[in-house]
Amino acid sequence: MTSAETIALYGQYVIGNYTRLPVVFVRGEGSYLWDADGRRYIDLFPGWGVDGLGHCHPRVVAAIREQAGKLLHVANNYYMQPQARFAQILSERSFGGKCFFCNSGAEANEGAMKLARLATRAGEGNVRWKFITFHNSFHGRTLAAISATAQAQYHKGFEPMVPGFLYAPFNDLKAVEALVDKETCAILVEPIQGEGGINLAQPEFLQGLRKICEREGMILIFDEVQTGCGRTGKWFGYQHFGVTPDIMTLSKALGGGLAIGAIVAQAKVAEKLAPGTHASTFGGNPLACAAGIAAFEAIEEEDLLKNTVAVGRQALARLNAMKAKFPFVREVRGKGLMIGMELNRPGKGVAARCLAEGLLINCTHEAVIRLLPAMTISREIMDEGLDILENCLAGEK
Ligand SMILES: Cc1ncc(COP(=O)(O)O)c(C=O)c1O
Repeated sequence: MTSAETIALYGQYVIGNYTRLPVVFVRGEGSYLWDADGRRYIDLFPGWGVDGLGHCHPRVVAAIREQAGKLLHVANNYYMQPQARFAQILSERSFGGKCFFCNSGAEANEGAMKLARLATRAGEGNVRWKFITFHNSFHGRTLAAISATAQAQYHKGFEPMVPGFLYAPFNDLKAVEALVDKETCAILVEPIQGEGGINLAQPEFLQGLRKICEREGMILIFDEVQTGCGRTGKWFGYQHFGVTPDIMTLSKALGGGLAIGAIVAQAKVAEKLAPGTHASTFGGNPLACAAGIAAFEAIEEEDLLKNTVAVGRQALARLNAMKAKFPFVREVRGKGLMIGMELNRPGKGVAARCLAEGLLINCTHEAVIRLLPAMTISREIMDEGLDILENCLAGEK
């Protein structure tokens, strides 16, 4: 099938809810992708962060092949080995909590918010139900997740929103204090805002949220859907900030490319999710968990956290050099391989020129060029990609 034929089939049969660029990808390996016409691209934004180990990591592919020959799915009213082992891996690398598995980031956040309500409920007369979330956040596309997401653009046409969500400016502790009352059950925050433009939380801000939650008996939820699983150079983003959440949500890179989401909750909180309270048919299926186990083993055995830190530093240095060269670059920021370059103008044109030159990047929040390269990326491929970006920036008028 040619690219034109594929795109025509989409036009006829696939709902047009995405703005798609006119490329049909057929094969990937590490930080490279090939389209249906045989053209090779460097991918510095693999799968919006899903392909954290790059495309088709051999270890993940082998684990999927092996598991697919044994068992694809059994229901969650039985036990299965890969789910048990993957929960252990996540718990041991985070704060020793317990896991619930689902299939996506939004679903993980939904579950986390339900759990927070259960965990703070102290009898009929004492119902906590409100959530504090942040300007420029992004938590997914279900009704509760868009309600948690503070931008009006995600609400438009779907109102009324789920009640109970209050929004504070990011990094503004005083504003949070002003919103807290006896009905507030949780604070939901990304330690580094992704879709909102790679905005890093100040450590004192997250530490302050922790204190508020302790003082008020509220739950602190970190949405680590984008920051988790090694992306920032540590296993989880919270580990940079000297703060431990009560609940953490994961997805994107969690399954090495396969669809999976998870909640990790402190044991005392987790116990509130008793039988009958919450469920997900596909959640924690053996195939996705086997892929996730392989991804985490690869990160460990190939020393990929170290690579993420090293190549991330190299990229930040080069991007800062570009900032010095191009006056329209406002700021460069990031942690590990979660990197943003804010322009003083829309960045869509730069992303389009990069695509034409064989480089995949993203532009978020209108003006922020976003890179989420694979943790496996070499210094050479990163440099090759950044050369293309630099040339495309030079084309800005
Ligand atoms: C921080 C964060 N939370 C939640 C989500 C939603 O994840 P999903 O699209 O898997 O539902 C995203 C997706 O970009 C995200 O970046």
